[in-house]
Amino acid sequence: MDRTEELLESIQSLPPAPNLLNRLLGELNNIHSDLNKVVELISFEPALTAKLLHVCNSAYYGLSDPVNHVSDAVNRLGFHSVFHIVAVVSGEHLVRPSPTSGLDGNQLWKHSVTVAFASQRVGKAQGADSALLFTAGLLHDIGKLVLGEVFKKEYAHLIHGSQLAGRALVEVERSCFGTDHCALGARLLERWHFSPLLVNLAAHHHAPEEAAADRRFAACLELADTLAHQVDGVKLLPARNTAPALSAQETLGISNEQLERHREGLRKSLPLVETLCSARS
Ligand SMILES: [Fe+2]
Ligand SMILES: [Fe+2]
Repeated sequence: MDRTEELLESIQSLPPAPNLLNRLLGELNNIHSDLNKVVELISFEPALTAKLLHVCNSAYYGLSDPVNHVSDAVNRLGFHSVFHIVAVVSGEHLVRPSPTSGLDGNQLWKHSVTVAFASQRVGKAQGADSALLFTAGLLHDIGKLVLGEVFKKEYAHLIHGSQLAGRALVEVERSCFGTDHCALGARLLERWHFSPLLVNLAAHHHAPEEAAADRRFAACLELADTLAHQVDGVKLLPARNTAPALSAQETLGISNEQLERHREGLRKSLPLVETLCSARS
């Protein structure tokens, strides 16, 4: 058993697999699937539907008449907006560190949602599947939960220490724990039967050059991570300093002006990020 597997095995209870999210991605990937099937999948989950409608009827969307069912939400907000809400609502239980873990679950979740919006924005301009990149952003740091559960406050201190020292978090994780949050996250997504592409993106979101054929999408994720840290005010430093983000920018052929437009667009998404994160109960 390798070190990554050993740490995963040592956790008493892993969060339940986000099956609906996985099935939705599968449906979206299937060219024969129709939107009604997707609406049906969502409607089948009453708690999720209630939260979806709650967000649709929040002040953020400013709708004059309330949305009463899923198909109504799709017709009025558009499928992509509904997918974003459903993905966030159905994934939010994943980032709930136990009280003994030193991680701030709300902060980590807000970062994940911000990266999701940033990834789909950067990825869209690269012709990537927007739902897939959104999900990749949402789950990119899921491995941190495992380290928090296993090493508790020691991990929180390590994050803080790496920031103070200006050291790359993944390198510090590897030297202290023998693995990193990227490898752990990828293994977790594999256990949850997410696609090989999503697994590969989680594994290489801090080293896109190692993602082989998926290098460009991994670069989208790395750039999105950096953008999120820049705009969302979270004090965490990216796992690597700014220089590698520059190489992601080069890999994607994004000019400084385009990058600024992405940053600006992402800033405009922050009220939606807040709305979605506040729907978390
Ligand atoms: Fe990360
Ligand atoms: Fe991150």
